[in-house]
Amino acid sequence: MARKDLIVGNWKMNATHLEAIQMVQKLSYRLETDDFERVEVAVCPPFTALRSVQTVIETDHLPIRLGAQDVHWQESGAYTGAVSPGMLRSLGVRFVIVGHSERRAMFGDDDAAVARKTVAVLDAGMIPIVAVGESLEQREAGTTEEIITGQLTAALRGIAPERVATLVVAYEPIWAIGTGRTADPDIAGQATAQLRAALSATSGNEVAAAVRILYGGSVNPGNIAAFMAKRDIDGALVGGASLDPDQFAAIVRYWV
Ligand code: PGA
Repeated sequence: MARKDLIVGNWKMNATHLEAIQMVQKLSYRLETDDFERVEVAVCPPFTALRSVQTVIETDHLPIRLGAQDVHWQESGAYTGAVSPGMLRSLGVRFVIVGHSERRAMFGDDDAAVARKTVAVLDAGMIPIVAVGESLEQREAGTTEEIITGQLTAALRGIAPERVATLVVAYEPIWAIGTGRTADPDIAGQATAQLRAALSATSGNEVAAAVRILYGGSVNPGNIAAFMAKRDIDGALVGGASLDPDQFAAIVRYWV
């Protein structure tokens, strides 16, 4: 089964709703209809900008997908500060990042929380982007495969294979995020192959072949093509460079 390329911009805690409107408009001017045939494009603004970006996408009939950076697993209730899957779904959100390393490191998202969020996103009819990645110490200790496949298996525990087939995995080595220090494409290719092998082991070959696996960590217009050339890399999760519509558009059009 052919996997369509997927390039996702993770804006993190950047952009007011007014700035977000401008960013998505500028992005749309820089992309051609043909680009969207080849690549699925998504942006993940902060919660406060989702409604505004949704309006631009709908009004201008843009093929850009809307994503969120996090979610709570409960549908409603006394969870001060949290946002539920249904709330995101009603804004036309298609993708939700779960388990980003910044969430794991700064907001206490452990494997159990990531697993709950993954199920909640699927239950609400959206697509989780399950992020996994090793620290520099773990890489140097030679435990990368164990760490990333462990994170992935924990996130997917108990999810039926046909549902696993619909989700997206992002391999983001922590030492490459926001540092300008990208993983060597060979290293990223190896880690993504290990993740696909882990998917085969837990959910079967057919499911593993259907899941899109992204690379993330200091992706820019100059290095994207080398990552996309790897057999098991189907796209990218882009942080810093996604804030600049020129750079992000150049990443989307990685073959140009
Ligand atoms: P970066 O972030 O591209 O700024 O390294 C990637 C991410 O955290 O998703």
